[in-house]
Amino acid sequence: MADVLMVGGGLIGLASAWQTARAGLAVTVIDPDPGGGASRVAAGMLAPVTEVVYGEQDRVALNIAAARRWPAFAAELERATGIDVGYRPTGTLLVGFDQDDAAAVADLYAFQKELGLEVQRVTGVDARTQEPMLSPRVRIGLIAGEDHRVEPRAVLRALIRACTDAGVELDRSRVASIEHDDERVVGVRTEDGEVRRADRVVLTAGAWSGTIDGLPDDARPPVRPLKGQVLHLRDPGGRPVLHTTVRGLVRHRSIYLVPRDDGRLVVGASQEERGFDTTVTAGATRELLDDAAAIVPGIDELELTETIAGLRPTTPDNAPAIGWSRLPGLMIATGHHRNGVLLAPITADAVTALVNGKDPDPVIAVADPNRPALATRSDQRTVPSPGLDALISSNRNTGGPP
Ligand code: GLY
Repeated sequence: MADVLMVGGGLIGLASAWQTARAGLAVTVIDPDPGGGASRVAAGMLAPVTEVVYGEQDRVALNIAAARRWPAFAAELERATGIDVGYRPTGTLLVGFDQDDAAAVADLYAFQKELGLEVQRVTGVDARTQEPMLSPRVRIGLIAGEDHRVEPRAVLRALIRACTDAGVELDRSRVASIEHDDERVVGVRTEDGEVRRADRVVLTAGAWSGTIDGLPDDARPPVRPLKGQVLHLRDPGGRPVLHTTVRGLVRHRSIYLVPRDDGRLVVGASQEERGFDTTVTAGATRELLDDAAAIVPGIDELELTETIAGLRPTTPDNAPAIGWSRLPGLMIATGHHRNGVLLAPITADAVTALVNGKDPDPVIAVADPNRPALATRSDQRTVPSPGLDALISSNRNTGGPP
């Protein structure tokens, strides 16, 4: 019998399983396709500064601490597995395209400075000196020297290997229900009817976390799927197209281009309230390509090698839910919204501390799963974050909230 069951094997579940197993517990991850969900789609930005959101200042400390946890986490994972997880501390450049975009970027800069964040304002010319592929039309740049990146698919590969080596059981079943008695959780039932018993269960099922049967209403995390479509482009000669992550505001819409060492460029992302739909659409693809080409015109020469959509797990206030639920023995670790990659190591640390009866890092308090903002029904939609992406009234938020 496992000490701990992780329901879901994305970045959050696998990172939590690895850390918990290293702390000496017997851990099972239950997922029919570990690493096959939103984590595979993520571009891998670690961007607490450039993704800062108006009205969500309360989680800046968490996001900064999460980014600072990454170098050691990546190094530990690479040491354990020999796999390069693509942690590249090259910073992020955020540019504005037209005059209105430049004004919005300047406002964002003022907000970031007010929050004491590490960011530098540069001219369009300076931005082009750093990234020569940028369009001459780019007007303003912000350099966020601490917003780095990883390769999520490499992290997933490494975590699966690290988990296996650390004795974590990967059970490729689908969890049908959480099992509990009158007092506490006792395990889970898988779709084939088998009951896996454990007195500690961690719900790490991303956007599906609220859909699992057997959860009492007051322990069910109100997460909903927020669809994101991304594209992979590739230089035919395998040459890196950009050095840093480039983000842009283009005619009031936000776009990001995240380079990989092998010449790929990940371009994202839509934000769509479409339930559990993961269809790739022509409209989102066209918008992403148009906006990316506006700031990096050379992308027109690249191969389009992949189009994919994933589902971010999003809560009513966009902050994650990490901690013990109201059902004794059931822990929640989901709702990471746009920050799943960024928050994976710090979430794993918190899960490991909590299952061992220890106090987690106090910065995690903002993610209390029992906070009043989460006492809503999971079918209630909230307005998308009014940050870089909505300040700009993105019409990429297609199918928006009611
Ligand atoms: N953090 C990037 C995204 O969610 O699209």
